[in-house]
Amino acid sequence: SLPVSDSSAIVEEPRIHKGLAGVVVDTTAISKVNPETNSLLYRGYPVQELAALCSFEQVAYLLWHGELPTEEQLAEFERVERAQRALPVAVRRIIDELPLTAHPMDVLRTAVSVIGASDPRASDDSPEAELEKAIGLYARIPAIVAYDQRRRHGDDVVEPRDDLGYSANFLHMTFGDVPELVVVDAFDVSMILYAEHSFNASTFTTRVITSTLADLYSAVVGGIGALKGPLHGGANEAVMHTFDEVGRADKAAAWLDTALAEKRKIMGFGHRVYKHGDSRVPTMKTSLDALLEHYDRPDLGALYDALETAMTARKNILPNLDYPSGPAYHLMGFDTETFTPLFVASRIVGWTAHIMEQRASNSLIRPLSAYSGHDERHVEG
Ligand code: ACO
Repeated sequence: SLPVSDSSAIVEEPRIHKGLAGVVVDTTAISKVNPETNSLLYRGYPVQELAALCSFEQVAYLLWHGELPTEEQLAEFERVERAQRALPVAVRRIIDELPLTAHPMDVLRTAVSVIGASDPRASDDSPEAELEKAIGLYARIPAIVAYDQRRRHGDDVVEPRDDLGYSANFLHMTFGDVPELVVVDAFDVSMILYAEHSFNASTFTTRVITSTLADLYSAVVGGIGALKGPLHGGANEAVMHTFDEVGRADKAAAWLDTALAEKRKIMGFGHRVYKHGDSRVPTMKTSLDALLEHYDRPDLGALYDALETAMTARKNILPNLDYPSGPAYHLMGFDTETFTPLFVASRIVGWTAHIMEQRASNSLIRPLSAYSGHDERHVEG
């Protein structure tokens, strides 16, 4: 086992780890990110292999149970998930109370909170109850995301279909029909790639909340809050705003020069862990290419390439997963503000796997800080 530092020690001159960069806080058996080899393993399996050969349902099962399901296990898992796909009435009522201008991440955060508040087992932290709650959220989040997009468009709710896989049903509930296989496949690949990524900010948030022995729903609500920011999950939404702002491929280089001169962060580029490229990008880019061809959008493909080429030439900072997934979701027909909730729909699997892992070997997460304020002083009088 790895050495664990003594958190109670009082250090004379503490070394500050701003942003916890480079700090290893715990072990995990769920996924392994190797920035040197640009690889990402879920429970030992390369994510590219899982995206090519497995469904999102199989990958979710793998992340939770540690092994890929047998045919019987998968059938049972799918039965349980499909039985819980409908939008709970209590959630629908609360969403209807929210303004149409509410950000879909805020709507989703509220909806998950309502599900938690309505669940009598919310504070049952046995492994069986935790897994049931995790599968319940995984099954219901698509209905929340789809319902919210449709209500903003003034469209009626579309009930789930239990004869469809996760991704086909998600698209059916959002758009009222099942798109062609190329679209369903691209969506499924995005769900697999977003599912898990070790101690990223939102997953770490869920582990911090779990470490206080709070319930799973509280941890997930916190994770949604952490994912919303544009330095994390919110970047897939921000990428699309960038494409809208740039407009055309031939304007990309000049736009970038101005943006960099203004010290702006270019959304969808860079990563805290990967410095030689994000391991998930080539797989998602292949799916995006298939969509660009399917929807006949060479203009968007040219814009994507032009901005990436310019960013590599100027800063040598490479795209992260949000760069290809943003335009992919756009082509599928999702509203730009709905992109980050799609990330939640997938990452709920990784978050809840980490919540269960944290609970199984818990230690309160409580780092130290170095005081930089006023010297001790006293109230006059
Ligand atoms: N645009 C412009 N400059 C950048 C970018 C970017 N996207 N990313 C890094 N840099 C620059 C920084 O300004 C810094 O330059 P400096 O040394 O001159 O100050 C240098 O590269 C190092 O960057 P850091 O900020 O130290 O890198 P850090 O690891 O803290 O940040 C982060 C990683 C937050 C992801 C950053 O790259 C960023 O803001 N990217 C844009 C947001 C984004 O796409 N987030 C999605 C993350 S992946 C995901 O959630 C799926």
